Amino acid sequence: MAPRSTKSSRYISSFLPILFFAACTTQPSSSSFTSGTMQRGQSRQDQILLGRHMVVSHACGECHGGGDNPAAAGWLDGLRDTITQQFRIGPFVTRAKNLTPDNATGTGRFSERQIFNALRYGLRPEETPDVAITSTVPGQGNFPLHPHYLAVPMPWVSWRNMSDQELYAIAAYLKDGLKPVNHKVQDSDGPADFWASSYTVQAIGPYPVVAYPTANEKR
Ligand code: HEC
Repeated sequence: MAPRSTKSSRYISSFLPILFFAACTTQPSSSSFTSGTMQRGQSRQDQILLGRHMVVSHACGECHGGGDNPAAAGWLDGLRDTITQQFRIGPFVTRAKNLTPDNATGTGRFSERQIFNALRYGLRPEETPDVAITSTVPGQGNFPLHPHYLAVPMPWVSWRNMSDQELYAIAAYLKDGLKPVNHKVQDSDGPADFWASSYTVQAIGPYPVVAYPTANEKR
């Protein structure tokens, strides 16, 4: 903000404390000003807390580390226990990744949209461009022609049915609600088709989910 005249600058500076206060809605106590750093806005904080709730209540830590307790050692920082966090799928070994925002070994190098695309469409963030996807048909609406899917058993197929708001909240929590931990997890093995034959509509059902009621359900 570059005020053009002394008059407007005086006008703005008289309102600055109010503007600053309004922007710092998180813990608007005097202590948040003395630290010299701007606190996160309330809506971002709410988004992160919703993401934390989704993560804790969807057992992410049972594979990615820390179980269901964000205070546990190894919270979401990836495979450390080969009994519970490493999986043998046919001839392949797959490994739960480091989800903390470390740039070298975690999600630091992915955007929140790439994490959203991983959770909604099962696309590996590492090999999927950072674009808005509007189709589930390969080659259409930015859906990759040769999708590289996340290895089984990452349960994105169930979680793709969460709302946009919930999935973006998870991405916000992973990127901005966790401290980065430098912990390299070895890449998963996988088939040449990057699991595409495991994720056909016949195998996993359509997205969005079929209308209620189906033959198994009653009104
Ligand atoms: C049953 C075990 C399991 C659970 C539960 C699980 N994951 Fe995963 N997840 C995996 C595995 C295995 C991979 C590695 C996939 C690969 O290597 O392609 C993975 C990969 C990912 C990735 C991609 C990371 C990267 O660097 O490529 C994200 C993001 C992710 N999981 C998020 C989540 C979230 C969020 C939850 C909870 C809502 C969750 N996972 C729960 C097993 C799991």
